[in-house]
Amino acid sequence: MKRLLFFALMCLMVSTIAFAKDVKLTSPDGSLTVTVGVNGGKAWYQVNRGSEIVIGRSALGFVLKDGDFKDNFKQGKVTRASLDETWSQPWGEDAQVRNRYNELRVRLQERSGAKRVLDVVFRAFDDGVAFRYEFPEQPSLKQFVIMDEVTQFALPTDAQAWSIPALTAYYEGIYTREPLSQKGKMSGPVALEVNDSLFMAIMDANLTDYSTMNFAPSGTTLTVDLVPWQNGDKVRMENIRVTPWRAVIIGRTAADILLSRMALNLNEPCKIADTSWLKPSKYVGIWWALQKQQWTWSQGDRHGATTANTKRYIDFAARHGLGGVLVEGWNYGWDTDWTKHGDGFSFTKAYPDYDLEGLCRYAAERGVRIIAHNETGGAAQNYENQLEDAFTLYESLGINTVKTGYVNSHFYNGELQHSQWGIRHFRKVIETAARHHLMIVNHEGAMPSGIQRTWPNLIATESMRGQEYNAFDRRGGNPPYHECILPFTRGLGGPMDFTPGIFEYRNDAVPGTHPQNTHEHQPAFKFIEDVPTNWERTLVPHAAMGKYVTYARQERGTDNWYVGSVTDGQARDLELSLDFLADGVRYTAIIYEDGPDADYRDNPYPMTIRRLDVDRSTVLHLHLAPGGGAAIQLLAP
Ligand code: NOJ
Ligand code: CA
Repeated sequence: MKRLLFFALMCLMVSTIAFAKDVKLTSPDGSLTVTVGVNGGKAWYQVNRGSEIVIGRSALGFVLKDGDFKDNFKQGKVTRASLDETWSQPWGEDAQVRNRYNELRVRLQERSGAKRVLDVVFRAFDDGVAFRYEFPEQPSLKQFVIMDEVTQFALPTDAQAWSIPALTAYYEGIYTREPLSQKGKMSGPVALEVNDSLFMAIMDANLTDYSTMNFAPSGTTLTVDLVPWQNGDKVRMENIRVTPWRAVIIGRTAADILLSRMALNLNEPCKIADTSWLKPSKYVGIWWALQKQQWTWSQGDRHGATTANTKRYIDFAARHGLGGVLVEGWNYGWDTDWTKHGDGFSFTKAYPDYDLEGLCRYAAERGVRIIAHNETGGAAQNYENQLEDAFTLYESLGINTVKTGYVNSHFYNGELQHSQWGIRHFRKVIETAARHHLMIVNHEGAMPSGIQRTWPNLIATESMRGQEYNAFDRRGGNPPYHECILPFTRGLGGPMDFTPGIFEYRNDAVPGTHPQNTHEHQPAFKFIEDVPTNWERTLVPHAAMGKYVTYARQERGTDNWYVGSVTDGQARDLELSLDFLADGVRYTAIIYEDGPDADYRDNPYPMTIRRLDVDRSTVLHLHLAPGGGAAIQLLAP
């Protein structure tokens, strides 16, 4: 009996110890579980959905300049919190965003030596999990340098992964799908098709004063690979004591990934007190003719940004109710090989044939705003030196948007764009712009990580292969599946400035290069005139990574809905239930769709427009041509 009692006690102790060591966190709906533990001094985490392992045991920790901070840990105190809040966005895909999670903070304490401590904070949402590291204030860890982050994401199977290679210039690459084990180093977000009911995306959220997270795969395990400073430092922890969130979006369908608002939720609340001046809008620009080499950015006979040309664009914008006119090549600095001499750019001095003040007035009189263009040629320091003067000038002229650009893989002092130096620079521009009531459209920018929640004046970012490749890419342009994978990767962190839509197939500058999509000809411009730029609610009726996507969006402040569908190189027939429409209301549907025999390869123009009376019981049949799409306006009475 005594022996039995002794063994019973032993078992109890073992299970208590095991319980005390491995800490669990569950998502509010109970579907996702994070387990955190320390074994042999090494900290790890695991993510489950029910009994299914989503991320297997994966390492946590760092290599610092003054030594490892990863294999001498014991588990310290554990604290918990939860939140269920709904916050509003001044503009965006949803007016209201629900932020609901359970949180677990696990302290890791060094067993010997300096006995430094590190907190890992996990958040379990219903649509994924995220964690970040926090470095509590402590005498032996004041300012320090991170040489490596050893964080891993160990996928249990060889999932199909969509990604672009790490360090692709400006992220302007074509996303491709391969099994994880066949990938080289990748940048985030990485989208994963694991099985028929498991879809994921792994990304940085709230990338602030840190280096960008790339991934080094080994087998099916991804290890974080941070973009370095020139001297090999990865991150200099000088100003803040937290890392960005390492976010893993988890869904049962591909559409779930697009509906997740985790990236936004993991960012800080808005820091702009009065957001009334933030106005998303449509724009046209002195742009496509430049890409096609008909006009030049530099001075001369074919200079695009002349007063006369700009007036024509302003008149066009005013006639069609478009809010902005982008003007590229208005300022000094373009006359040499500017990609090598970015220091020559002035952001305040206009070329003699461009009447900066007069055009701003001309635009204002017609309800249009000029969008100032600030190409830096990567000379970011030259830009920083002029930032305050330039933004003061623009604000005084009534300009409310600046498009920035960084054509050069290195910045002025040789630092990489996506290093901590670059991330600090991009943020400095956004914050300075906010003080001057300027919205930023950032080309060649950081990989978006949801910071538009905090800084909603970051109205759009490029950081992807945009429309311009359909003008100058000698391989022919973007492949037709491109727009079908962007939402699942680049699109997860924030709005995409793909740059203006175009209506023309021919490109004489680079013969053979043209958009790999069908086109809607001029009658379809009506849709562009009508489509709003701010939304009440977003739904995703159809989605398959790299194949097709349909978005349905309710206009902010009305009962009207707008639907957009795109397909890859294959024709598709999709059934669209309109069950999202308001109950008991008859809507007018105006459907713009590919016409007979439309095909992106050789017949991109045919298009039909039909009008129908519909309600929430209607199911629309959509036929998308190869490389085609559909756009639908659903107007409430
Ligand atoms: C690249 C940008 O993406 C493009 O939109 C711009 O026209 C050129 N740089 C010149 O700044
Ligand atoms: Ca670009």
